[in-house]
Order: sequence, then C-alpha cells, then structure tokens
Amino acid sequence: MKREEFSKVSMATKHPARVALAIVEDKKSKYNMITLEWFMKTSIKPPMFAISIGHTRYSHECLQNVRFFNLCLPSKEMTEVSMICGTKSGRDIDKFEETGVKWFSGRLAKLPILKEAEANFECKVITQVRSGDHTIFVGEVKHSWLNEEKKIQTVKDLM
Ligand SMILES: Cc1cc2nc3c(=O)[nH]c(=O)nc-3n(C[C@H](O)[C@H](O)[C@H](O)COP(=O)(O)O)c2cc1C
Repeated sequence: MKREEFSKVSMATKHPARVALAIVEDKKSKYNMITLEWFMKTSIKPPMFAISIGHTRYSHECLQNVRFFNLCLPSKEMTEVSMICGTKSGRDIDKFEETGVKWFSGRLAKLPILKEAEANFECKVITQVRSGDHTIFVGEVKHSWLNEEKKIQTVKDLM
C-alpha cells in the first residue's frame, strides 16, 4: 500500500463501474441526455437515486428548470450512444437526433424511456446538494421499466 495522488487512485480503481444516462428536459421542452458514472441508489422506501452533475453541463441547467429526470441504464449495445452523450453537449446538438435512439414517452413527466436500455427509472427531484464543482440531484423513483434480456454496460465498454 502506497500513498498516491487522488487522481491516480481514482483512475486505477474505476472498474467495473456502471454507466447511466440521465434524460432531462430544457425550458424549451427539448430533451437532452448526459452520460454519468457518478450515480447511486440512496433509499429503498421510497426508492431514490442520486446523480452528480457538473455545473458546466447543459443538463445541469436543464435540471435547475425542469425538476424531473429519467435515469436510464444503457445496455451493452448502446456504447455509441453513451460515448456521444458523454462527449457532446446538448447546447450544441440534439442528442436524440444524433444517436437515433428509439424511445416512448414515460408516465411521470413524459420524458423519453429508451427502448434498447436495460432499465429506466422515472424520477422527480426531491432535493439537491452542492458538491464542489458538481451538484447532487436526489430523485424519487415513481416508475421503473425493465428489459430482462439486455446485458449491462460498464465504463470498461467505453474504453
Ligand atoms: C463514461 C463517462 C462518465 C461520465 N460521468 C459523468 C458524471 O458522473 N457527471 C458529469 O457531470 N459528467 C459526466 N461525464 C461527462 C458528461 O457526460 C459530458 O460532459 C456531457 O457532454 C455533458 O453533456 P450536456 O452538456 O449535454 O449536459 C461523463 C462522461 C463519460 C464519457
């Protein structure tokens, strides 16, 4: 065991982290998707997820205005989608057009449910906490969707 810089330890212990996509809506009712590694379950009753989003991201601006998100767990075959959503901004492109993902409207706030994903969780933002240069948005799950035949995607699939 050796003391190291945080960035080195963080990179070395990354795998096998899961990947998520948060689907959000801007104030002009345009949908956006952001790739996330920093997300977790935070409650069973009621079910809740926390997602950590950088202040500079367009999705951060969206969540300040429209207080819902769909947390999507992409399947292995969606690596291209996760790459696009994790490297391009909704300020510059329409990621739904660019990726061509298939979707239908959810029940909570009509945010897209991605058909090829392993799972989708429709969440309502309950609270948020500033964490350095990110904000942690905590969402209560109102509806859950599952595709049992899909395999999970991890950060390793994107490397
Ligand atoms: C594998 C991967 C994981 C990422 N995890 C996060 C994360 O947890 N939080 C975050 O704010 N950005 C994360 N990003 C970066 C955003 O997805 C990226 O900056 C995105 O282009 C922001 O899109 P937006 O401006 O449309 O919101 C990640 C990117 C990749 C490729």
